[in-house]
Amino acid sequence: MAKKITDKVTWVGKVDWELTHFHGHEYSTSKGSSYNSYLIRDEKTVLLDTVWLPYDQEYVANLKKEINLNKIDYIIANHNEIDHSGALAELMREIPNTPIYCTANGAKIIKGHYHQDWNFVTVKTGDTLNIGESTLTFVEAPMLHWPDTMMTYMSGENILFSNDAFGQHYSTELLYNDNVDNSELFAEAIKYYANILTPFSKFVTKKINEVLSFNLPLNLICPSHGVIWKNNPAQIVEKYLDWANDYQENQISIIYDTMWESTRKMAEAIADGINKTDPNVTIKLFNASKEDKNDLITEIFKSKAILLGSSTINNGLLHSIGGLLEMVKGMKFKNKKAAAFGSYGWSGESVKQLTEKLKDAGFDVVKDGIRSLWVPDGDEITKLSEYGKSLVELLK
Ligand code: FEO
Repeated sequence: MAKKITDKVTWVGKVDWELTHFHGHEYSTSKGSSYNSYLIRDEKTVLLDTVWLPYDQEYVANLKKEINLNKIDYIIANHNEIDHSGALAELMREIPNTPIYCTANGAKIIKGHYHQDWNFVTVKTGDTLNIGESTLTFVEAPMLHWPDTMMTYMSGENILFSNDAFGQHYSTELLYNDNVDNSELFAEAIKYYANILTPFSKFVTKKINEVLSFNLPLNLICPSHGVIWKNNPAQIVEKYLDWANDYQENQISIIYDTMWESTRKMAEAIADGINKTDPNVTIKLFNASKEDKNDLITEIFKSKAILLGSSTINNGLLHSIGGLLEMVKGMKFKNKKAAAFGSYGWSGESVKQLTEKLKDAGFDVVKDGIRSLWVPDGDEITKLSEYGKSLVELLK
């Protein structure tokens, strides 16, 4: 159902309440998502982004209720991952000659996905499109988070169509940030940043500062997922600058997997030692095999340090920890400290492997890891607690 945003701009996207996973199964979406598409009606009519492929027919059918498709003068494709370009093929069957404004990389990606030579108009930062009272200005934003990404600014209405940046996988019919539960909203916004944008933080900082230097008036930020930032849109920009700046809270996350509870007992004993020495630091324990992997990435994003634990199995790591480390490496976290621990019965390679992988992922490993043979008890628990105490200064 279309929703009017301003006299000239109407939301024509899709709220996907059922979505549980995104990027295949790489990203969990426990609150669903939305694919935001916008129809701009000035002297010229512009359609900005579409929706994910499974909803292409529904999208075009709904769009026809809002406008005669032949009245669309221009299509703008800010970013061409399938969640935004997915309905293009269905749409272009109806209006095959409509120009598609996108970056040069955008044209390549659309051709690579849909194998059609549509009427592409490639644009660069600073290029403009006059549509009547308003002018659209394009701002390339490569690697936020794909090479093709750009943003579009609409003068007069003072709207930044930011595409994925400032988005959240969050379904709501209420449209605006001030209408929804803000604790839910910011939990989804930080999860989105941590899991999607962390590797590109230096580009985030640079691009935001570039856009701020234009001193453009800003009434709304309209991203491609989740709510529109209407009440104080600068608040999410400030959050992004904070998150992009090697963000951390006073938190230590202890993340482990365990076969027969020995590594869990180690985790709890180390946590006890940390807590006794520094009662103010937030310590969170997670069994990686039982937790959502993307929530773990968010917790690591918030942490100043992590302790990673795994029992040894078949001369290696338990798979939940091995898989998590692969994700962690890709995030390119900066300014985070770490140490490793794990139980073993005979060969006991896990701690050495964890240590190497943490270093490889860019963590500052502050102390040799600690191993416990079989089941820790008595003196061993005390030793682990002492290990936790000894970490406090090193993890500051
Ligand atoms: Fe929402 Fe990168 O697509």
